Amino acid sequence: MSDKNFYITSPIFYPNANLHMGHAYTMTLCDAIARHQKLVNKKEVLFLTGSDENTGKVVKAAEDSDVSVDIFLENITSGFRNLYTALGIDYDIFVRTTDKEDHWPGAIDMWQKLSATGDIYKSKYVGLYCPQCEAFYTEKELIEGKCPLHGIVPETLEEENYFFKLSKYTGEIKSRILSDELKISPETRKNEILALLDRGLEDVSFSRPASTVPHAIPVPNDPDQVMYVWCDALTSYITGVGFGTDDAAFNKWWPASVHVIGKDILRFHAAIWPAMLLSAGLPLPKELLVHGFILSGGQKMSKSRGNVVDPLDLITEYGAEAVRYYLLAKISPFEDGDLTLESFKNAYNGELANGLGNLVSRILTMAETYLDKPIAGAKLANSEEISRAMETHEVQKAMGHIWNEISGLDAYIQMNQPFKVIKVDPEQGKDQVLFLVKKLQEISFMLEPFLPETSLKIQQLIRENKKPETPLFVRKD
Ligand code: MSP
Repeated sequence: MSDKNFYITSPIFYPNANLHMGHAYTMTLCDAIARHQKLVNKKEVLFLTGSDENTGKVVKAAEDSDVSVDIFLENITSGFRNLYTALGIDYDIFVRTTDKEDHWPGAIDMWQKLSATGDIYKSKYVGLYCPQCEAFYTEKELIEGKCPLHGIVPETLEEENYFFKLSKYTGEIKSRILSDELKISPETRKNEILALLDRGLEDVSFSRPASTVPHAIPVPNDPDQVMYVWCDALTSYITGVGFGTDDAAFNKWWPASVHVIGKDILRFHAAIWPAMLLSAGLPLPKELLVHGFILSGGQKMSKSRGNVVDPLDLITEYGAEAVRYYLLAKISPFEDGDLTLESFKNAYNGELANGLGNLVSRILTMAETYLDKPIAGAKLANSEEISRAMETHEVQKAMGHIWNEISGLDAYIQMNQPFKVIKVDPEQGKDQVLFLVKKLQEISFMLEPFLPETSLKIQQLIRENKKPETPLFVRKD
């Protein structure tokens, strides 16, 4: 992939239920990074997302809601897209792993490549299986003999499966991660995976009996088995850009610039995925950006705790830009973050209604009153500080810089009081207003990757030399 291109992916989410705040976070983070690359770094950007559809979770959820798997998936994935539209997520590709035309040929091709390398073999698998997780656990991983996530005693299950020789790649993956050829951000996650690699990797089960998920991708030459999530879901990052169907597109976009993932799926992305790529003779992605979890009041959001904050509800009440603001300014991409209705409202009132919104009204009211014409509107380069912060995905720092500028202008108005100066010294007063409008224009440009709609609204008002007819962010009590 050329340096002019930038390929970013989100995980492909399970469509067994609607998306929650954690997913909204990942997507907003990806979107801000993608928009920054496009607007500021002038890259040609491709942003891939999708849904991980060939799983038992989906079969169960469809049964529970009494519809066919197809219809269930249609409904849920259109819900995904609605949330993205509502949040202003500018994705380019949405991979559905049930897509037989665009996804299956590449997944099958991948399987065949691994098989040709001699890295896939058949064996009996006896394991402790949690049907809720759809995963096998080792004794060591259980807590008091129970699934660490669901607290249920796993079933002993024996299956004839295909396996992938993950163990063979431990050393190679380690050296690629140590040398940052496969960069893992932040450093804490890099160390976490290196520690895991030091303990060694075991081969992983790579297929399931076809009866478990009848709609999944059949294993080549063995219709009794279907591919398990690894060769199916991880491969979406390459099938989505043409692997198995369009070589030119694939060569243009692969390797990915960055896979954005949450901390719970680090092992899959930093061990299994690179091993598969090495086995297939394909380049590794350049970077994994691993974010934490969004909690609410320090705890996981859950219905039983009653602390669930739904992204669509927040968008309805406060607008998408407010949700984007909170996720980008208040949640670190490197650690767990927190969001409660209270913290959200405080940030909204303090930093959007009283902060940015109020500043826009004050400056543009003066501009409309005292300037005879709009300022000339050359598009300025983005700030050094923001570019530096975004290089290392320090999105919070970038947002902090913009809000410092906002406070700086508030302080300037407070100190100089241009609306008073203009009465005694019109020239000087006008100069001060001009200065403020220009600075506001700079702020609006800086905001574009993060709050695109607000940014364009401010740019438009400046072009028309008009104050907003209604506040940009109405205060909530
Ligand atoms: N389908 C797999 C991923 C396959 S990628 C080839 C999957 N899907 S998921 O629907 O469970 O979504 C997982 C993503 O959401 C992960 O990145 C995970 O970390 C993220 N989150 C789940 N809960 C979260 C929070 N509470 N906060 C932030 N992100 C969280 O796993």
